[in-house]
Amino acid sequence: MTPRNKNFIITIDGPSGAGKSTVSKKIAARLNISYIDTGAMYRAVAWATLKQEIAPAESAELEQLLRNIKIRFQAAAEKNLVFCNEQEITAAIRTPQMDKLASVVSGIPLVRKALLPLQREAAKDCSAIIDGRDAGTVIFPDADLKIYLDADISARAQRRLKEQAAALDLQSVSKALADRDAADSSRAQAPLRRAADAILIDSTNLDIDEVCEEILTRFFARFPESRL
Ligand code: DC
Repeated sequence: MTPRNKNFIITIDGPSGAGKSTVSKKIAARLNISYIDTGAMYRAVAWATLKQEIAPAESAELEQLLRNIKIRFQAAAEKNLVFCNEQEITAAIRTPQMDKLASVVSGIPLVRKALLPLQREAAKDCSAIIDGRDAGTVIFPDADLKIYLDADISARAQRRLKEQAAALDLQSVSKALADRDAADSSRAQAPLRRAADAILIDSTNLDIDEVCEEILTRFFARFPESRL
């Protein structure tokens, strides 16, 4: 049973490395709902610009790329496979180069305008958890439950360092995160900010299961009929 017996939307926003994607995957599995990773959609656009040798700036070429792009997700065990134009790009979009390029691409108004309907479409006719920066402010301002997941930069850098396959040091990971936070928060287009009605969870001293527990407690408190 779902809240009010209808499909529902949970949004989860916050800065890089706060744990949004890991938490979203677990919540999606627990509630048996879709997981929509909007950051991966910006990463897919970044990947496509690189592959098609198109500069990450407004142009007729970029417009055409966006018109034809097909991005889809496929749940697979603990993984969320990402496909762009039917090529699997799950690992290819998780590199420091893609971190930077996705951040640049996400500041381009044309890109945001093209992805917004695709993001809404992905959650059409299903219940979903949407992970992003503007999920609760722009994509789904009427979401049933909004979470803003934050953590100290040092905790976020430690987590990112563990995830990165490349040999990087804590200082450079921390600097890259701070630069991305600044770019994502200060841009004119849908900057990262907490929606007034979003619940703030600080994950600095919480592990993933504790964060999930907190979100599920909030969810079931709001929608007791969903507790099975
Ligand atoms: O969550 P992530 O690191 O995969 O996101 C990649 C980039 O896309 C990051 O710079 C923030 C940006 N982004 C955004 O602007 N809006 C979203 N809804 C999701 C991500």
